[in-house]
Amino acid sequence: MTERFSPKIIPIIDRRNAAAPTAPSRIFPEGLLLDTRNRALRDLRISVTDRCNFRCSYCMPKEVFDNHYSYLPHTDLLTFEEITRIARQFVAHGVQKIRLTGGEPLLRKNIERLVEQLAGLRTVEGKPLDLTLTTNGSLLARKASALKAAGLQRVTVSLDAMNDAVFRAMNDVDFPVSEVLAGIEAAHAAGLGPIKVNMVVKRSVNEHEILPMVRHFKGSGIVLRLIEYMDVGASNGWRMADVLPSAEVIARIQTEHPLVALAAASPGETAQRWGFADASGVHDAQAGEIGVISSVTQAFCGDCNRARLSTEGQLYLCLFANFGHDLRSLVRGPASDADLASAIGHIWHGRTDRYSELRASQKADSGNHNNHKRRVEMSYIGG
Ligand code: GTP
Ligand code: 5AD
Ligand code: SF4
Ligand code: SF4
Repeated sequence: MTERFSPKIIPIIDRRNAAAPTAPSRIFPEGLLLDTRNRALRDLRISVTDRCNFRCSYCMPKEVFDNHYSYLPHTDLLTFEEITRIARQFVAHGVQKIRLTGGEPLLRKNIERLVEQLAGLRTVEGKPLDLTLTTNGSLLARKASALKAAGLQRVTVSLDAMNDAVFRAMNDVDFPVSEVLAGIEAAHAAGLGPIKVNMVVKRSVNEHEILPMVRHFKGSGIVLRLIEYMDVGASNGWRMADVLPSAEVIARIQTEHPLVALAAASPGETAQRWGFADASGVHDAQAGEIGVISSVTQAFCGDCNRARLSTEGQLYLCLFANFGHDLRSLVRGPASDADLASAIGHIWHGRTDRYSELRASQKADSGNHNNHKRRVEMSYIGG
């Protein structure tokens, strides 16, 4: 699809949906951006590959992501230079945190070169970014020190069980827990902290792993976060019956480890924080904390400050969106940095997304998220 470019009218091309967004008529100055619900843009998640070496059933089930699945060809992927150019405009609009995701981001060749480029960016206040990466940990032992040297600050590692058989079944490629733990150890040794561990909880699949995971990470300085299994994408066969509500997760943990609620560390945070309590019911900082992410039972769209850039340069305003805004055609066309910044400003300014809230009120199948089957996969858009 080609469109003539004019410096005043910036083409925002929707390539995944027939309803193309309208071209902006106003140019937004750089600076803090608010959407239609007064939510600031603070967090950019960049997917660097749609491939993964795991086949977690809640994300990339084998039946769908098999040998016939068409992944993006290399030429469709944004280059590191294109990613950095786009990221720079986001940072100029107030972004403070950048998370690299996938698929599995460590599968992208020379990822540390991208980290190096992004680490050179500075926030509007002149500070370094909170630069982080989500990984399944399989390649972390090999890459941790190079990532740290390139300027990565911290990592979040996905791990769904301590029990080896349960974990091997969940990743569905027979990958052992011990190697992920070795990856976490290497990240710790390299100084990539604070480290977080994300565990997606599926009823009857790994709910009995909650307490072993809590026991393992308590007092380690690593923050375990327990995530409600979500209806993201179109291929995981999600059912409400498979969701273990966070309230229940907390109640189970409390039977063995008394907890106290902690205040949010920053506005718009995904996780609710809970500290391990000492004998007098006060937070024991040595024992540390856990988090629960409850996007199904307690939506947190109200202050959602996250934008997502897909592997091929589509900007998504919600994890559950079914269309994106084409930034790649801008960076591969004659658009200047100011044009790009203006386009991003326009897109965020018009943002209305609040899928989880609408889902909670049973209205989720409307607006930008109308058809469940057309939703993008998390491996494409990034977690
Ligand atoms: P920190 O900066 O380390 O606190 O990370 P984060 O919690 O912002 O990001 P992370 O990618 O670790 O998020 C953990 C999980 O929360 C993801 O894997 C998703 O399951 C879920 N999640 C993250 N962002 C969103 C979001 O915007 N909406 C919804 N519904 N779920 C989200
Ligand atoms: N529900 C909740 N979280 C998910 N993730 C992927 N699929 C789902 C889902 N259906 C998140 C997990 C994983 C990260 C890569 O993406 O947190 O660790
Ligand atoms: Fe890969 Fe992470 Fe998805 Fe599992 S959840 S298939 S590790 S991207
Ligand atoms: Fe943000 Fe969409 Fe998640 Fe709500 S459902 S918190 S709007 S990404």
